[in-house]
Amino acid sequence: MARKLNVAVVGASGMVGGQLLELLESRRFPVNEFYPFNSGRRPAVVWFRGKKYACLRPSLDALKKADLVFFVSTDEVSAKYAPRLAAAGVWCIDDSSRFRLAPGVPLVIPEVNGGELGPSKKLIAGPNCTITGAAVALAGIHRKFRVKALRLATYQAVSGAGRAAMGQLEAELKTYFKTGKVPVLRGAFPRPIAFNLFPQVGGFDAQGHSGEENKVAAELKKIWRAPGVKISSTAVRVPVLRGHSLGVWAATAKPWTLKALAAELKRTPGLKFFPEAKNYPAPLSHGNKTFEVYAGRLRRADTAPNEFQLWVVSDNLYKGAALNSMQIAERLLADKYFRRGGIL
Ligand SMILES: NC(=O)c1ccc[n+]([C@@H]2O[C@H](COP(=O)([O-])OP(=O)(O)OC[C@H]3O[C@@H](n4cnc5c(N)ncnc54)[C@H](OP(=O)(O)O)[C@@H]3O)[C@@H](O)[C@H]2O)c1
Repeated sequence: MARKLNVAVVGASGMVGGQLLELLESRRFPVNEFYPFNSGRRPAVVWFRGKKYACLRPSLDALKKADLVFFVSTDEVSAKYAPRLAAAGVWCIDDSSRFRLAPGVPLVIPEVNGGELGPSKKLIAGPNCTITGAAVALAGIHRKFRVKALRLATYQAVSGAGRAAMGQLEAELKTYFKTGKVPVLRGAFPRPIAFNLFPQVGGFDAQGHSGEENKVAAELKKIWRAPGVKISSTAVRVPVLRGHSLGVWAATAKPWTLKALAAELKRTPGLKFFPEAKNYPAPLSHGNKTFEVYAGRLRRADTAPNEFQLWVVSDNLYKGAALNSMQIAERLLADKYFRRGGIL
C-alpha cells in the first residue's frame, strides 16, 4: 500500500482548524502521523480518527516532521514558519492572508486556477473567504465575456472572524434574552453584532477602505490574473453564524444574453446555479457545511453597459477556507506532486 503523509495542522483548535480535521477524516485524506498545534496559551485537545490529541506549541523542528502543514492560525505564525518549511521541502498550505499577494506564491482555488500549482511551489496560499464565492461564480463568465468592472456588497458571517467572534454573538444573544438589552462587549467586533450589522470588516486605510475591501480587490485580480479589472465593494458584517453572501454587479467587455450567462453559470466548475428567481440560496440552507458555491437571482442591471446582477452564497469555513485547502492538498495528491517529491 502507498505510504501516507505526515500532516500537521497549525491552529487545530480554531474555527477553521476544526473543520479541516473533519474534512481530513471524512474525505479520507491519506494521513499517517497527525500533529495538531495551537498557541500553547491554553491547553487544547482535538479528536482525529477516534483518537484524542493534545495540541502543542509549534516549533520549526516539530513542524519539519510533517510532509504537509496546513496553516490555519495567524499571519504572524505563517510568516514565522511557512517560508522556512517550504525551503526545507515541506508542503505548506496557508489560509492566513500573509502570503496571498506575495510574488511567486500561488493563490489557489483549484477549480479556478489549479494550474498555478507546481512541483517547486511548496508554499501555497488560499484566498480570503469572501472573494472565493465571486471568484468561483464568475470564473466562466469572466473567461467568456471578460468582466471589466465588479461591484460587491458583502454580507459576512461572524465565523469569518474566528471562534471568539462566534462566542461574542452567542454571548450577546444570551444577555439579550435574559435582560432585554444587547450588551456592549469588548471582543472581536467594534460594535455589538446581535440584531445589528456594520460596514466594517478589518481596519480602515487612509482612503476609507476597510482591510477586507482591499483584500477582496487585490486577491481577485491575482486569482484571475486580471490586474485591469475594476473592483469596488462594501464589506458588511451581519449576525449570521456561518455562510457569506454577496450582492454582485458585474459589467463585461463583451455583450451577452441572459440565456448565455445562465448557460455559462450552469457549467462553471464548483458552482450550483439556481435559474429560478425564488430559488435563491441563503446562508442557513447553502452556507453551512456545503462544498459548492451557490448563485441565483441573475438579472440585467441598468447602471452600466453589459452589466448584470447575481446573488452568491458560500460556506466561509468550508469553501472559503478548510475545504479549499483540502482541495488543494487533494489536487497535489492527484497530480502526484507528493510522489514526485519522493514523499509518497
Ligand atoms: N474563519 C474563516 O472563515 C476564515 C476563512 C478564510 C481564512 N481564514 C484564516 O484562517 C486562519 C484561522 O482562522 P479561524 O477563524 O480559525 O481563527 P480562530 O478560530 O481564532 O483560530 C485560530 C487558531 O490559531 C491558533 N493560534 C493562535 N496563535 C497561535 C500561535 N502563536 N501559534 C500557534 N497557533 C496559534 C489558535 O490557538 P488557541 O486556541 O491556542 O488560541 C487557534 O487554534 C486565520 O488566518 C484566518 O484569517 C479564516
